Amino acid sequence: MTKKIVTLAGDGIGPEIMAAGLQVLEAVAPKINFEYETKARNFGGAAIDADGHPLPDETLASAKSSDAILLAAIGGPQYNDAEVRPEQGLLELRKELGLFANIRPVQIFEALKHLSPLKAEIIEGVDFVVVRELTGGIYFGEHSLNKQFARDVNDYSYEEIERIIRVAFDIARGRGKKVTSVDKQNVLATSKLWRIVAEEVAKDYPDVQLEHALVDSLAMKMITNPSDFDVIVTENLFGDILSDESSVLPGTLGVMPSASHAQNGPSLYEPIHGSAPDIAGLGIANPISMILSVAMMLRESFGETTGAQYIEDAVNKTLLDGVLTKDLGGNASLDEMTSAIINNLCV
Ligand code: NAD
Ligand code: IPM
Ligand code: MN
Repeated sequence: MTKKIVTLAGDGIGPEIMAAGLQVLEAVAPKINFEYETKARNFGGAAIDADGHPLPDETLASAKSSDAILLAAIGGPQYNDAEVRPEQGLLELRKELGLFANIRPVQIFEALKHLSPLKAEIIEGVDFVVVRELTGGIYFGEHSLNKQFARDVNDYSYEEIERIIRVAFDIARGRGKKVTSVDKQNVLATSKLWRIVAEEVAKDYPDVQLEHALVDSLAMKMITNPSDFDVIVTENLFGDILSDESSVLPGTLGVMPSASHAQNGPSLYEPIHGSAPDIAGLGIANPISMILSVAMMLRESFGETTGAQYIEDAVNKTLLDGVLTKDLGGNASLDEMTSAIINNLCV
């Protein structure tokens, strides 16, 4: 049956990289007999400009009734003083769709090894996944602000922690069988509960090793000993920060995709980076983060493992061929990189 994919291009480099991702999807679809239709909807700053709100009702309704959602990026300095910022639309979308499980894989393509700012021996064997809780924590607690005082509340219930820890254990079971649960248990009450829940869930997974780490030292170990990790699971804010940090391993945010899953309903696929206002409109953004998000969608929403593999192989080959955008130290444009990836599909 024809799959319904809602596309949210958003702001900054969003429309450029979305176009690239959709070109690759169009090229791979006939090779795997994948039938789909796309619906583009306003979102983020673009929706503020068009409709006055970053998440219009029509966009939310389309997203809810889709089979999967592709999102490029939102935000930009022109919206810093907006009554409702583009980022608020993204948080509302995640909450409305119940997208609590954000999966951010960190692997280093063979061709990128010599481009990493880290020594080759440090990044050898790096292959881990950051599992970020996405609909709770300090992002969604009470916020208040006046000129004298500000407050952001960090709440987590047992159930919210349990379900994300289970996602991490399930993923670990299918790969390296190790979960690193990251918290700030020496200070925060939410982290004390987090650790208790992680221990309880671990009893159901005797085949998977659980270790705990404090977020400050883990931030250091992720860079000094990155090959030690298999699945890292953590709360919303820590996961946001650690996943951007992990992009130092391949050397750029421009190659980092993600998937966000709910208990029921459509999943959403998006790069982990933002709208990159500093390079928007120049045609030099790296489209790989979006293209690999398309691959994750094919695999995780539609079971199209072969199509996902075709895309990943084409990306690897393109990088090995030395087609590199500016963030990777090259001078290929976004269009050149996208065409090269399409030409490398199934060769
Ligand atoms: P950013 O991730 O947009 O950019 C950080 C740096 O990485 C910039 O130098 C940028 O040029 C570079 N970069 C990011 N993606 C790239 C790509 N595909 N190719 C090449 N270089 C790339 O972070 P920022 O500048 O702090 O934030 C800009 C805006 O994006 C803010 O409004 C922020 O709130 C928003 N944001 C949105 C999302 C999202 O849509 N999911 C995620 C993060 C940030
Ligand atoms: C991300 C982004 C968002 C987040 C912002 C734009 C709200 O940084 O997807 O990582 O903090 O979750
Ligand atoms: Mn982020």
